[in-house]
Amino acid sequence: MKLTNEERDMLNGRNGNAVRQSMEILVSLGEIFGAKRLIDVASVQIAGVSYHNLGDAGLNYLADLAKDGKVKVLTTLNPAGMDMENWKVLGIPADFAEKQIAVIDAFKKMGVTATCTCTPYFVGNSPGFGSHVAWAESSAVCYANSVLGLKTNREGGPSALASALTGKTPEFGMHLEENRQAQVAVNVNAKMETVTDFGALGHVIGNKIGNKVSYIRGIEKASTEQLKSFCASIATYGGAALFHMEGITPNRTSIPQESISVSQKDIDDAKKEMNDNGEPDIYSIGCPHLSLKEMGEIAGMLKGRTVKKEMWICVARPVKEDADKKGYVKTIEDSGAKIACDTCMVVAPIKGRFKCLATDSAKGCFYGRGKNKFKVIFREIPQLIEEATA
Ligand code: F3S
Repeated sequence: MKLTNEERDMLNGRNGNAVRQSMEILVSLGEIFGAKRLIDVASVQIAGVSYHNLGDAGLNYLADLAKDGKVKVLTTLNPAGMDMENWKVLGIPADFAEKQIAVIDAFKKMGVTATCTCTPYFVGNSPGFGSHVAWAESSAVCYANSVLGLKTNREGGPSALASALTGKTPEFGMHLEENRQAQVAVNVNAKMETVTDFGALGHVIGNKIGNKVSYIRGIEKASTEQLKSFCASIATYGGAALFHMEGITPNRTSIPQESISVSQKDIDDAKKEMNDNGEPDIYSIGCPHLSLKEMGEIAGMLKGRTVKKEMWICVARPVKEDADKKGYVKTIEDSGAKIACDTCMVVAPIKGRFKCLATDSAKGCFYGRGKNKFKVIFREIPQLIEEATA
């Protein structure tokens, strides 16, 4: 891989240890994937933030980099293992909280914006169309490439942090136009009206074509919230980093010869597959984290009602602050539902505390089962609220 003089100096340690280690990661990655050069990134989203996933080894790695590392571009964080302010209300143990705070402190020392959310595009991390970025978090990567028109590979935690500390990423994969062309056309012959319809669609397409770039036809309109749900689902069930949706998403592509179809039965079967036989003991809404519009709708549905089960409403802290100004937070909290900022029911250490998760998120069903060994129930938000308040 060809490096500039400045990049060579970084690799040789002239800019300190954290930069040297980061360049070693990026150059190795670039060589493995055949990149010809490094390119500048406009922003970074780091995943692997929960102490639950990092453990002491990860914490020590971060503390070491924080000795002399400083981020070069806007960098935000994925959800952590707890609400950084309200962790006691969510039942997080104090010894876990101490470690999680140390993790976030290490990131802050490096200059990272410590907003922990999987919807960085709702909180100001959203550079202009066509910008190269280095984002981790599969749902956000898919949203960035497909909906925002950014260009990013599916980064891992260490490679995203390395990009943050250097402002660089190797140019391969989704950074190159030839890899962003659709490979399979998908003809959707099903009713697409709700967030869970879109979650189920991601489940179906992901299972049918894996991580291939799709060109999706037959959808008349899709809201931000529906696309957010679809991105999380197609990235989870198939591993896609990019799709094109005819008349809806902004990137240009050639139209592929190969095609598949999605029927109403496919969607209905996917919904059935995400429903186990269980009695929910935790309800969680906001996977990916909620928009302000969704917060308003949920407040409207919860107004004057009492939640009788554990219910988490997961949202980025700045969105919660905006929701607070509109009175939504008080209405939600008055119902007994708990607002969970900075975290979610997948990355928080709640395995064993609950048995059955009810959610509107297809991604949440996948990880609820796989990671936390929960049974899952997949429902629209109004139904979830109806059941939790009955
Ligand atoms: Fe976000 Fe957690 Fe879902 S990180 S996409 S709310 S699993």
